[in-house]
Order: sequence, then structure tokens, then C-alpha cells
Amino acid sequence: MDKRDRMTKNTTPTKFAGASRGTLLLALLIGLAAGIMTAVLLATLPSGPAPTMQTTGKALVGGPFSLLDASGKRVTEKDFAGRPLLVYFGFTNCPDVCPAGLQVIAAALDRLGDKAGDVGVVFITVDPERDTPELVGKYAASFHKHILGLSGSSDDIAAVTKAYRVYAKKVPDEERPGDYSVDHSTFMYLMDGNGEYTRHFPHSVDAAELAGALTQAIEGSAGGPAS
Ligand code: NI
Repeated sequence: MDKRDRMTKNTTPTKFAGASRGTLLLALLIGLAAGIMTAVLLATLPSGPAPTMQTTGKALVGGPFSLLDASGKRVTEKDFAGRPLLVYFGFTNCPDVCPAGLQVIAAALDRLGDKAGDVGVVFITVDPERDTPELVGKYAASFHKHILGLSGSSDDIAAVTKAYRVYAKKVPDEERPGDYSVDHSTFMYLMDGNGEYTRHFPHSVDAAELAGALTQAIEGSAGGPAS
């Protein structure tokens, strides 16, 4: 954006002292047009990887999935039946957002202590080309032993990202020419023990808030105290 601003300024006429009024007017119009185009470009550029998402009603987000853990074992939503499940998407080469989110999840799980095992947490790669089940499994576990990293075939990943309405798109990596990065939405989805969507959090959610929500979800899934 900085470059574009500078370019716009450079095309703005500065020395037209001897120019005819027609030339000056034309130059002004060109400058104006460039300014408008810049404004339009800035307004239409996506401001972040996460598209806005409305989640009302049941079953808009989530659904069956079939993926692989680090040992190559198939993992599906059924493995979490009866437990709340926190679902987070990303990829191991993600420079900052994914690690930040995983750190928050790890901190929240630490707060749960013994109860951490009562909630399922999966980190599903949006980059199955590079993130093998083993790679993403080890990566996720490096943040917390209760975070299960999952990968699968491109079709498997396409199916689960579609089910969770996750945006993920390969883009050229600006810092490593020839390489790619993956733009992706960064919400964490909390599903209940029946696999129904409950709510979602931004990756920047506070660990204490997330821990509170997970505790509440665990109590709800356990049938909770009669009320
Ligand atoms: Ni990421």
C-alpha cells in the first residue's frame, strides 16, 4: 500500500508552469483518476485472511470428517462423541497466526488441568501438500499434548474445510520467492458433545476466556448438575 501511495504521488503533476491549460487539466484529471483508482483498490483489497461469517442456527458449521493423526490412525468426529471439541485450522509453516492461536489453546488447556482430557482439540492442516499427518501431529503436540494435529488427502481436507466454512487459499510467499503460503480463516470452533456447533473464537481470544468456555462446555457435555 505504501508503494502504491508513493506511485500515485509521483504521477501527480508538479511542474506545469509552461504547459497549456488543456495539458494541465488533462494532467489533473489523470492525477484524480489515479487517486480514485488507488482508493478503489484499497477499499476492495481483502483486509485479512478471515472472511466474515455468520453462524446462526444449527449445522451451518461442522460435520463429519475423516482425517489422519501422526501415527496414521484415522480420526473422525465420532472419536469425540460425548466430549466438546475445539476445532482449529492452520498449517505448520504459518508464520504467526497459527502459532499464536495454538499457544492460546495450550494455555487454556493448562488452566483446565486434569480436565484437559475431557475436551477434544484438533488442529487441522489447510496445507495437506506439505503437512503430512506425522508433521502436523508432531507440530500440534509441541504446543500441548492434548492438541491433536490432523491431515489427510487433499479431498479429505477440502471436505472438512468446506464443512467448517473455512477459507483457505494458496498464495505466493512474499518472503520466500517460489514458495507459497496459505491464507486462511483463523477462527476456533467449539462443537458440543453431539458434534453441533456451539460458538467460535478469534485466534486472539484470551486464554482465560477460552478456558472458561471449555469448562462450561465440558460441564454441559457431562450432563452437568441437574438444574
Ligand atoms: Ni495460520
